[in-house]
Amino acid sequence: MVKIAVVGATGLVGRKMIDLLEKKDIPIDELVLFSSKRSAGSEVSFRNEKYIVEELTEEKTDGGFDYVLMSAGGTTSIKFSPLFEKNDAIVIDNSSAFRMDPTIDLIVPEVNRPTLNRKIIANPNCSTIQSVVPLKVLEDAYGITRVSYTTYQAVSGSGVKGVQDLKRGENGEGPVNYPHPIYNNAIPHIDVFGDDGYTKEEVKMIEETRKILGQPEMKVTATCVRVPVENSHAVAINVTLNSSPTVSDLKNLFNQSDHVVLQDDPKNNTYPMQVTSSGLEEVFVGRIREDDSLENTYHLWVTSDNLLKGAALNAVQILQQLMHTKEG
Ligand SMILES: NC(=O)c1ccc[n+]([C@@H]2O[C@H](COP(=O)([O-])OP(=O)(O)OC[C@H]3O[C@@H](n4cnc5c(N)ncnc54)[C@H](OP(=O)(O)O)[C@@H]3O)[C@@H](O)[C@H]2O)c1
Repeated sequence: MVKIAVVGATGLVGRKMIDLLEKKDIPIDELVLFSSKRSAGSEVSFRNEKYIVEELTEEKTDGGFDYVLMSAGGTTSIKFSPLFEKNDAIVIDNSSAFRMDPTIDLIVPEVNRPTLNRKIIANPNCSTIQSVVPLKVLEDAYGITRVSYTTYQAVSGSGVKGVQDLKRGENGEGPVNYPHPIYNNAIPHIDVFGDDGYTKEEVKMIEETRKILGQPEMKVTATCVRVPVENSHAVAINVTLNSSPTVSDLKNLFNQSDHVVLQDDPKNNTYPMQVTSSGLEEVFVGRIREDDSLENTYHLWVTSDNLLKGAALNAVQILQQLMHTKEG
């Protein structure tokens, strides 16, 4: 008997999680869907049956769950994840609440494995996930000494509210979620600013990259930008390696990897784009070039669906990894 809860079942990520549990035929005997009071009572369909979403309360964390997919923001996770954990469930949490806690595993299945020191496992930030997948391929082959990220992040990364602000802008209305119009604009501001001028999103990418790759001293920097794209993030990665492979070596390496899809034929206008990666599960890599301004340094352009590999799919893959380990 496997009993699973999805918390945040009415959100953008939660809905994708439910779709993926069905699509990937995850062996589930009982599924319970939670939201806040606001959406409690909504109907969601799973395997041709209708489920009524329930309001999550403290008492309901004692429901005999084996696994909880938590996708309801940091405040909700801080309150409820430890209660589920106390009641013996394994929680896979999408928020940033526990990611940098040294007792908590931060997992991308293509890169690292859970130790299960604690029964809460953190799902990384969306832009980090799609970046560390190709970086791990480079790290294993050549070693990495430095990474510089610039992101072009879709509005769905802010949840329902982000998509609504883009639609409002398209209709000539002002923003409610973002501090500036996102329609016809790019906003170099994601999450709150720290005293050093970096945003929390940028700090998340820097710290999470080091933790997932197991390289606490790695030089990493980031600039995170919100763009008027509905779904799928792009990241420009400038990476310095320990040696100097040719561009064709790198293309061969990515071509042979099961974890990324190489789209790099610029003469035929072929490169990863947000519109072509939206709705797909893979991480796409292209525009691979040498950066002549710095030794052993290369440019990559990486796109992936932030709601899928950047959130729901990575969480479901962690679940599959755990279930597989348990069976084995
Ligand atoms: N969007 C992305 O690309 C992305 C990527 C990586 C990680 N994440 C993370 O995933 C989480 C969800 O993001 P999202 O984009 O799906 O947000 P969203 O569309 O705004 O959905 C939020 C969900 O959380 C529920 N919720 C809010 N407060 C709750 C409470 N007290 N108890 C139970 N449920 C509650 C909401 O229920 P109601 O319908 O009742 O409000 C809704 O189902 C966040 O932690 C986010 O940072 C998102």
